[in-house]
Amino acid sequence: MTNHELISGLNNQLNREVATFLRYMLQAASIKGAQWQNVREMYQAEVTDEVGHAQYLADQITMLGGVPALRPDLSPPPADVREMLNNDMREEEADVRNYTKLAALAEQEGHFALKMKMEEQAADEDSHRQEMQRLSG
Ligand SMILES: [Fe+2]
Ligand SMILES: [Fe+2]
Repeated sequence: MTNHELISGLNNQLNREVATFLRYMLQAASIKGAQWQNVREMYQAEVTDEVGHAQYLADQITMLGGVPALRPDLSPPPADVREMLNNDMREEEADVRNYTKLAALAEQEGHFALKMKMEEQAADEDSHRQEMQRLSG
């Protein structure tokens, strides 16, 4: 029944993850200035985390009988570093909420490994948000 809702929720989050790792990759590439070196390194490191999240979601969509459909938001990222950080803190917060909902849905459907992994990914996003907050001073 709601397997459809779960698959579509996972697919929506997959698109958010793909948009995120592309955005972080471009932001890391565009940041200049010694004072922002830590922010640049943070974005570089988080690309790998977000790719891992996307990969897990794509695998699970397939496992549940769905087909991953990619139409990520490809809007150009902000040029200003503070704007990047503020924007991404909001996005990370939204990701935490999405993963919390996906965990509840997975539990309802009896997918316990998926439920745990969604909670783990929620925790990763919360750590990303905290790190951004620390770097934004
Ligand atoms: Fe992520
Ligand atoms: Fe994140």
